[in-house]
Amino acid sequence: MDLLIKNGNVVTADATFKADVAVKGGKIAQLGARIEPAPGAKVVDAAGKLVLPGAIDAHTHLAMPFGGTISADDYEAGTRAAACGGTTTVFDFALQEFGERMEDTVKRREAICAPQAVVDYAFHVGVKDVEGELLGSLDSCVKYGVPSFKVFMVYDFGVTDGVFYQVLERSKRIGALIAVHAENNEMVNMFVKRFLAEGKTSAWYHYLSRPEFVEGEADERAIAWAKSLNAPLYIVHLANKQGMDAVTRARNEGYPIFAETCPQYLYFTNEVYKRENGRNWVCSPPIKGAESRGALWAGLLRGDIATVATDHCPFMQAEKDWGLDDFTKIPNGCAGIENMYPYILSEANKGRLSFNKAVEVCATNVAKIFGLSAQKGAIQVGLDADIVLYDPKKNFTIENKLMHGDNDHTVWEGVRLKGYPVATYSRGSLVYQDGKFLGKKGAGRFVKCKPVRFAGPDVANIR
Ligand code: URP
Ligand code: ZN
Ligand code: ZN
Repeated sequence: MDLLIKNGNVVTADATFKADVAVKGGKIAQLGARIEPAPGAKVVDAAGKLVLPGAIDAHTHLAMPFGGTISADDYEAGTRAAACGGTTTVFDFALQEFGERMEDTVKRREAICAPQAVVDYAFHVGVKDVEGELLGSLDSCVKYGVPSFKVFMVYDFGVTDGVFYQVLERSKRIGALIAVHAENNEMVNMFVKRFLAEGKTSAWYHYLSRPEFVEGEADERAIAWAKSLNAPLYIVHLANKQGMDAVTRARNEGYPIFAETCPQYLYFTNEVYKRENGRNWVCSPPIKGAESRGALWAGLLRGDIATVATDHCPFMQAEKDWGLDDFTKIPNGCAGIENMYPYILSEANKGRLSFNKAVEVCATNVAKIFGLSAQKGAIQVGLDADIVLYDPKKNFTIENKLMHGDNDHTVWEGVRLKGYPVATYSRGSLVYQDGKFLGKKGAGRFVKCKPVRFAGPDVANIR
């Protein structure tokens, strides 16, 4: 035994119980009442604390070339911030180059990430090109340990409806999971052109060029195609009520449709775009109105939102300022990697959801959906000792100067949280304690995922 965490309240997706947690060789070796420490083991008293699995952030963009620049957190800064917010695994998006095989995309990003990452990491591939034999390279990518792919219905590199459908067909055959960024590109382009011609250039017009139905209609189409194949589909960064309703309907019919939302959609509303610094919240899909926010919360509590992830894609203030007089020049994306778990746990601490639900959507379901549950996502014997100690009595106000990434501002500035993580262990190593990062560059490992066969239209196991 290397480490013994004593007297804490262990929280899993299903239960909360008092137990000691013994760690050996980076794994959870034993769980039980009054475990005796082995000679030489480090003993940590967690009385009054919750003992939680580290969060798994299913959606990050670290050092990603996008919007005319590169996102502000590289793999070191991003994973450092993750560790300090209780996140012990990140799924980063490796964007395919045109003509590139999918597994080569992963290897190219892995080479950049491996020497930098301080916590464990996995990848999804952002698909741009399936010409010729590239569609078949999904298969070799799955074999390499990356069975999840994202298609974009928007942006200049987004795929056509036909390509999206072919990717879905292939995924069904090989047990891969397709994630989709759903917005109607034609509508967005039409609105953007109109607003610019009318001189309507503030951040508010970012929202108005991508309002609720522009996302909701695309969600409905994506679901219709997945349903026609009975292929699983994962809708990333769901932000609107119409889409939420469509997901719920499909799930009630028994289809394996999974939705992810993000803390920014659960906390803010589109009113932020009317602020003087509204450009800082510009992301796509944009944050929607209060009705959509309410629908997302209801969906999360019902089990129709499967995961909460960050879509962490920060840009420096000077880059956000490119769009002071033209919302189309604002790089899309916000920071959140250090704030997701603390925010959701704070909402649990305030009674809005249970701690079990918080663990489920931030860790356990992510591991289940992306094929990691044999390794991560719960406080369970045999799994990696990715553990967070959470103090429900510690209050915390988010300030960028207290964050551990490289960005120079945060949309979460001033948000008050009830309770906060006080320690994070990555495979049994202490990487964060009481506001200080203690981990090591390059210590993170590439986690290979297994394809998950979702049992027909039975989605009850991920509720
Ligand atoms: O605005 C966003 N979401 N930026 C990151 C790229 C994406 O669409 O996920
Ligand atoms: Zn997206
Ligand atoms: Zn994203």
